[in-house]
Amino acid sequence: MRKTPPRILDPLSQRYFGEEDVSYQAAGGEQGLRKLCQAFYQAMDELPEAATIRAMHKEDLSELEDKLSLFLCGWLGGPIRYRDKYGPIVIPQAHAHLDIGPEERDAWLKCMQVALDQQNYTQEFKAYMMQSLWMPAELCRTKE
Ligand code: HEM
Repeated sequence: MRKTPPRILDPLSQRYFGEEDVSYQAAGGEQGLRKLCQAFYQAMDELPEAATIRAMHKEDLSELEDKLSLFLCGWLGGPIRYRDKYGPIVIPQAHAHLDIGPEERDAWLKCMQVALDQQNYTQEFKAYMMQSLWMPAELCRTKE
């Protein structure tokens, strides 16, 4: 098990990511998260190492792009938009029917890294996102 990682300071607001809506603001709010998620699913479409997880998804990714964007709004301390539109969600449960091992988890995280690198975000925010998404991704794992 990993140790609790050190907190990361947002160089723009001089506050810590994870406090109130600091991360949501750093992500560019809902519009910024929509851009990020568009890039995320585009990376999933294109990266050879993501082919297995791409195949788990429907052909049309537009609803999922909306769902992930709205989920991340609340998860990053902004408005709880996913629940307002789609109802409550528990991330590991939403993935329990899928075959996700370490390779699938890491492919998902790789898509996120590629998408983050395409955004106008600080290095600190990108590092915070990758650090904090590791655990939910790990909790989606359903096999060794
Ligand atoms: C660990 C690797 C992951 C894989 C392979 C994966 C794959 C998928 C797939 C295939 C779906 C569509 C499910 C379906 O149509 O039944 C889905 C849905 C979703 N995923 Fe993931 N996912 C992963 C991690 C994550 C993480 C870490 C998050 C959030 C931080 C997330 C957020 C979501 C959301 C919000 C939905 C929509 C659920 C719904 O409304 O039904 N996923 N994921």
